[in-house]
Amino acid sequence: MSSITGNDAEGTGIAGRLRLGVNIDHVATVRNARGSAYPDPLRAAQLAEAAGADGITAHLREDRRHIADADIAALREHLTVPLNFEMAATPEMQAIALRHLPHAVCIVPEKREERTTEGGLEVAREENRLAHFIAPLRDAGCRVSLFIAADAAQVESAARIGAAVVELHTGAYCDLHHEGKFAERDAEFARLRDMAALADSLGLEAHAGHGLTYDTVGPIAALPQVRELNIGHFLIGEAIFVGLEAAIAKMRAHMDAARAGA
Ligand code: PXP
Repeated sequence: MSSITGNDAEGTGIAGRLRLGVNIDHVATVRNARGSAYPDPLRAAQLAEAAGADGITAHLREDRRHIADADIAALREHLTVPLNFEMAATPEMQAIALRHLPHAVCIVPEKREERTTEGGLEVAREENRLAHFIAPLRDAGCRVSLFIAADAAQVESAARIGAAVVELHTGAYCDLHHEGKFAERDAEFARLRDMAALADSLGLEAHAGHGLTYDTVGPIAALPQVRELNIGHFLIGEAIFVGLEAAIAKMRAHMDAARAGA
């Protein structure tokens, strides 16, 4: 089993094997739409694990709109792959993370009114606060990741405060692709490419995620410094049509082909 956020050198490509973290938040979204006990995010996580996911990602939002506290407890108890716990930088979430001690904690910005995580974390402006916030998580053994836009000031701040990982926000790149704004998409892609390289040069592990689909994953997967992708919404949607295992297998195939330079 590979470590979802470790600096492992396994894999055969020159860039090393790219890990896939499957985000199961939207299984909980469907469950919560009816206030029922199903579909169960843990069952989806176990299926994802069996389909080759290297880790499971879940975001416990302040408003509990999808993942609930009990889901985190169940994932922590039953998963055999690492759990990447996404959370806002609040005292409540810090306490929950310290109680469950997930393998990785990914700090994301959170606004109540947003539909999804819209921007990256403002690390540069909040360097001091975030440095104090992540210290106990790091001391407790969690690998701390910061979800940031492709911006040098954010990457440099993340390195200064001792994060282990930066996850680069691919949402804008994906939106521009689907809107057909290819020149702007390419400019955003160039920023992602350069920030992955900068992160790596500063000793940070580079991850990427948000909005990725079969159409957009290739160029990101081909970036040699990117070690992990976290993908959720598209995979859960595809699962309606082809099943979760097939959707994950196809995403994995796209990632591997891009990594191999195909
Ligand atoms: N990475 C982070 C930090 C996220 O907040 C999300 C969305 O919860 C994702 C990856 C996955 O994005 P998507 O569900 O659009 O694939």
